[in-house]
Amino acid sequence: MASGGSGRLAAPGRATLRQGFAVLGVAIRREPRMFAISTFGSLVFGALTVADAWVLGWSADNVVLPAFDTGVTTTGGLVTVVALFVGVAIVRGAAIVARRWGAGIMQYRMQAHDRRAVTRQYLRLPLSWHQRHPTGELLSNANSDVEAAWAPIAPLPMAVGTVAMMVIAVVTMVLTDPVLAAIGLMVFPLVILSNLVFQRFQSPLMTRVQALRAELSEIAHESFDGAMVVKSLGREAEETERFAAKAHTLRDTSIRAGVVRAVFDPVLEALPSLGVLAVLVAGVIRVQSGATEAGDVVNVAYLLMVVAFPIRSLGWLLGEFPRSIVGFDRVRSVLRETGEMQYGDQRLPGSDRGALLEVSHLGFAYDPDQPVLDDVTFVVEPGRTVALVGATASGKSTLATLLFRLVDPERGTIAVDGRELRTLVAGELADQAALVPQQAFLFDDTVRGNVTLGADVPDELVWSALRTAQADGFVAALPDGLDTRLGERGASLSGGQRQRLSLARALVRRPRLLVMDDATSAVDPEVEARILAALRSESSDSTVVVVAYRKATIALADEVVFLAGGRVVDQGPHTELLARNPEYADLVNAYEQEAAERVTEGGAEPGAGGAADPAATPTVGGRVAR
Ligand SMILES: Nc1ncnc2c1ncn2[C@@H]1O[C@H](COP(=O)(O)OP(=O)(O)OP(=O)(O)O)[C@@H](O)[C@H]1O
Ligand SMILES: [Mg+2]
Repeated sequence: MASGGSGRLAAPGRATLRQGFAVLGVAIRREPRMFAISTFGSLVFGALTVADAWVLGWSADNVVLPAFDTGVTTTGGLVTVVALFVGVAIVRGAAIVARRWGAGIMQYRMQAHDRRAVTRQYLRLPLSWHQRHPTGELLSNANSDVEAAWAPIAPLPMAVGTVAMMVIAVVTMVLTDPVLAAIGLMVFPLVILSNLVFQRFQSPLMTRVQALRAELSEIAHESFDGAMVVKSLGREAEETERFAAKAHTLRDTSIRAGVVRAVFDPVLEALPSLGVLAVLVAGVIRVQSGATEAGDVVNVAYLLMVVAFPIRSLGWLLGEFPRSIVGFDRVRSVLRETGEMQYGDQRLPGSDRGALLEVSHLGFAYDPDQPVLDDVTFVVEPGRTVALVGATASGKSTLATLLFRLVDPERGTIAVDGRELRTLVAGELADQAALVPQQAFLFDDTVRGNVTLGADVPDELVWSALRTAQADGFVAALPDGLDTRLGERGASLSGGQRQRLSLARALVRRPRLLVMDDATSAVDPEVEARILAALRSESSDSTVVVVAYRKATIALADEVVFLAGGRVVDQGPHTELLARNPEYADLVNAYEQEAAERVTEGGAEPGAGGAADPAATPTVGGRVAR
């Protein structure tokens, strides 16, 4: 079974019926009023449909047939017939409105409720859960699965009304002519039987269809997200093929489900007509033998026909069950996830000083066999700047995610101002600390929106943060300044500009602890040096942890924590480490050398510069590594 598909649906048929009704039970318990309104409408509709048959029979016996016999029609008789038909039609119309209105509200409220619940859950679930679930699947859970889950609500009131109507119709038919009724009613067991057969074929197909929808959404999302890679490397055809293959599987599976339905629908529709035919044939014989009256035959045949249409609504209801159960299951499996973090009740002191950061004996692994961090211990005193240096894949970014409790460590503790992160109230850390991630992410919003993230911040503070991040120059040059929209992921900016906005976003919150994970990698060294100098002078009170490669950057830190193979192998001022630790010297010197070579070969990343960037230094010849 495909990813996310439920294994609990192996035995369709009766199990499907039970589960389908259980899903509906959830909706009825949550929206009892709307269910009552729509069901009432449906019951009135059903009763009046039966009343219509009665009016028809009554008219045939008392007005139409006497008119044939005598050749005269009475005005009173005609008026009564018209009034009865019109009256029934008006009330029936009102009942239809009540039914549809109630069912519509019920259905859309359930969808809205689940969408909210699913998105809240996405926000609540930790990063580790998100790393295992692709974005496309999340979108599919919140859209197609939620819609599938509550699709049966639309035909539900009609089906309930149908059942009531069937009871009334059956009783009326039996009272009118038991023999004809018995003949006509033989269709019911056949209808139920064909429904069960339908479920058996349809259930597994629907499970597969919902899973395929999620997979397709995943592929589409990934291809569009990676449009740059796909286009620049000329992989459009392969990507199209990958999408087409999945789309074709989805199409074929959906068509198979459609074929099953196409076979089933006419059978359901034909069965009652066959019943009507049988009643008419038997009726004619019985009228000829004087056993019954023509009016009664019309009555029974009409009742059967009347019931025939709503029987299809039962079919629609049951037909939605397989998809509904699968959608419901997929939504619930998200809501059931327990990867939630536990929070405590401690708060951080709201002082202006930098935070004290204590990391002790930290251990963490993504894969149990390969520890990424092992017994990591270091302390950053309030207001100090520490550079975290280490070769690629030495665990620096992992450490940053742990410092912000995006994931919890397996061993050891992290404390801010003496309080272990796990004991803090939810959101407390985010209020006082800020992470500038390795990958700058910008929203499709204005510059202001991207910096403030919706918080009410005066423009002076936004500009001040932009100044510290050396972003004020290019922002001022944008057509609408702070109000310029940046496009999806900040597509209209250069890599270095994006990084500087991402930094300004952290700075505007005036964090007591600032962690920069290689946050200036796309900015040229001179601008980076200015950023760090501004940081030191303007947020001199903040505690700063900076993941860095460049010597100049590292040299600005009070102290260096040198990570290798997930362990702290040395710690101290940069110059001391450089002198005493050859491994450290090799790493930072190798980086400088490589950067210098890149510049002399003319292969430097254009990154931070660009015509629209007055704050950036000229890129040619200006980038001499120190
Ligand atoms: N989500 C993840 N799932 C599994 N393994 C991961 C995940 N993220 C990182 N790793 C692994 O953990 C190790 C440390 O990665 P991390 O990103 O922390 O390194 P880093 O020091 O930040 O490297 P770089 O300097 O290249 O940014 C790597 O071996 C990486 O493959
Ligand atoms: Mg990293």
